[in-house]
Amino acid sequence: MTRAQQRALAELWERFGVETGAAMLNPGQLFGRRASLILEIGFGDGESLTAMAAANPGADYLGIEVHRPGIGHLLLRAAELGLTNLRVVCADAVDVLEQHLPDECLDRVQIFFPDPWPKTRHHKRRLIQPPFAALLVRKLKPAGQLHVATDCESYAYFILNVLNATPGLMNAATGNGFAPRPPCRPLTKFEQRGQRLGHNVWDILFIQRT
Ligand SMILES: C[S@@+](CC[C@H](N)C(=O)[O-])C[C@H]1O[C@@H](n2cnc3c(N)ncnc32)[C@H](O)[C@@H]1O
Repeated sequence: MTRAQQRALAELWERFGVETGAAMLNPGQLFGRRASLILEIGFGDGESLTAMAAANPGADYLGIEVHRPGIGHLLLRAAELGLTNLRVVCADAVDVLEQHLPDECLDRVQIFFPDPWPKTRHHKRRLIQPPFAALLVRKLKPAGQLHVATDCESYAYFILNVLNATPGLMNAATGNGFAPRPPCRPLTKFEQRGQRLGHNVWDILFIQRT
């Protein structure tokens, strides 16, 4: 972690950070208003999340990440941009979803370049699995969106199969396949690394339909 990131965690956490404790989060109280709520899981260095929050001041953004240097980076950028519609949780997203977010509170969930775990023996470590998908269905509002992007082909098909088989989700792409890249998704740090390595990217877009 750089000194600037350390300082950001010490000085800016109070402004943007959310301590979950034992309580259920109340999005209206967190942001002091009622607006569309977008959750990003695993935002990395937060460059794309802060860019989206800055571009959409009418929506509220909640980021969950476990990597503290990345959170420090995001805090610096959020302060630079003067964002008031962004809050951050430093915790495992599964715990936060299971224990701290009410059902039907999210208008969109975005997961950009989740850790791919490409080796077959590591596939069980992948974040997007049937129980996790079912949890997301519960937390999304009716007609809420789930947007995933990955540059790992085997994970792309794995995610597509999991989500196509999840009750309460409908593929927004034609033919139960991949979606075109939505213009609202900025280039992420991990994606830029993949581009340098010549990787393709697969976007996956589902709608909550319960
Ligand atoms: C491959 S990186 C991608 C980061 C960023 N989205 C990007 O595209 O540059 C995956 C990120 O997900 C985070 N992550 C993995 N599992 C997580 C979990 N259960 N809860 C929260 N964050 C998680 C990791 O710390 C890492 O920063």
